Amino acid sequence: MLTAIRGAMLTFKDDPFAKDMKDCMVYESDAIVLIEDGKIKDVGPAADMLKKVPAGVEIDSYKDSVIVPGFIDTHVHYPQTQIIGAYGEQLLDWLNNYTFIAEQQFADKNHADEVADVFLNECLKNGVTSATVYCTVYPQSVDAFFEAAEARNMRVQAGKITMDRFAPEALLDTPQRAYDESAALAKKWHGRGRAEYVITPRFVPTSTPEQLEMVGQLARDFPTALIQSHVSENVNEVAWVKELYPECSSYTNVYEKYGLMRERAIYGHGIHLTEEELEIFHATGAAVAHCPTSNFFLGSGAFSVKKAKESRRPIRVGLATDLGAGTSFSMLQTLNEAYKAAQLNGYPLSAGHAFYLASRGSAEAIGIDDKVGSIEPGKEADLAVIDLYSTPIIAYRMKYAKDFEEALFIQMTMGDDRAIAATYVAGKKVYARAA
Ligand code: GUN
Ligand code: ZN
Repeated sequence: MLTAIRGAMLTFKDDPFAKDMKDCMVYESDAIVLIEDGKIKDVGPAADMLKKVPAGVEIDSYKDSVIVPGFIDTHVHYPQTQIIGAYGEQLLDWLNNYTFIAEQQFADKNHADEVADVFLNECLKNGVTSATVYCTVYPQSVDAFFEAAEARNMRVQAGKITMDRFAPEALLDTPQRAYDESAALAKKWHGRGRAEYVITPRFVPTSTPEQLEMVGQLARDFPTALIQSHVSENVNEVAWVKELYPECSSYTNVYEKYGLMRERAIYGHGIHLTEEELEIFHATGAAVAHCPTSNFFLGSGAFSVKKAKESRRPIRVGLATDLGAGTSFSMLQTLNEAYKAAQLNGYPLSAGHAFYLASRGSAEAIGIDDKVGSIEPGKEADLAVIDLYSTPIIAYRMKYAKDFEEALFIQMTMGDDRAIAATYVAGKKVYARAA
């Protein structure tokens, strides 16, 4: 069946950190996206497309709005939905005092089901159509997440956390259980519908060398699976890794040693990565997930996308909320904080660069850019519609916007979930803001 959406449209056909923005950004002030069987069949200026859209095809039209690729959150913890905004701690205390307590509740499948529903509904309300997700150590928490995503037909990536030390007993597995449970989940979910499995060692400190060996074996046995973990988020964490793995030259070198640096491997934060580590990322094709609301909330620091993208050794960077250390499901608010992180690093992040990061850039970081992340024929029709006048003060501010770039920058500075007028997953409208 054919359907169509009409409105202003923004997408990217290349990486503006590597090429001129004018060769990357595609903006149409009045476009039609034609959709068939969940995929984009054709797209272009409405004047041309109206000749191609067969009579009788229903067109959803959006005024004063912009259609964008559905946002992609490349690093997020669904079980932490219940601890967003936990007061007073930095990373290592925050993990012990809030996270490891909340995650124990996910032994209960019913609890996991309930939180997965809340989490995914909130994603859709924020125009987030794909996410790369940490579950907990319990396999049933992974089933709960994939089942909830499958019911919504969402393109998701997720995995069971593996950890065998420095956390409460109830949250620990063993090297063998990490292998067996992850392998069983990967066999069940990797490539089923729109789901993909992510091998998920929590971070270096919570795995023994024996466990990292087994996780490396998983990576070899499931070569198309994604890999996710955390790297170089907090200075005390970095020092701890050095104590635990003195034979390794850096935090990243630990992951490298165990075979966990490759394309489709994505590491959260990376704030304190050294030049030597950035070079490993570049050489292996692994990516960093930039988590600005979380990095500010936990006082971890300000990641520099500009430094990561230096042309002599550019690395892939995705955008991420990192909830529940992150503080908002909104990718607009995440971009707001990304701009401030850039300011602290001495450069301005333009709206064009920012929206690239939230869409195509994130898709490239986790290797799903052949399927989503841009509005092009053949891509899956995951889309978000941003209302450019979503609150009285944004509407007022927009009167003084001199061009589309400025309008877009206003959205990422002032917009939030109220700016998302509608969200489409595989061509189906799955969320529409109340009028
Ligand atoms: N490092 C290890 N685990 C976590 C986590 O759950 N959140 C964050 N922000 N960092 C981590
Ligand atoms: Zn995280």
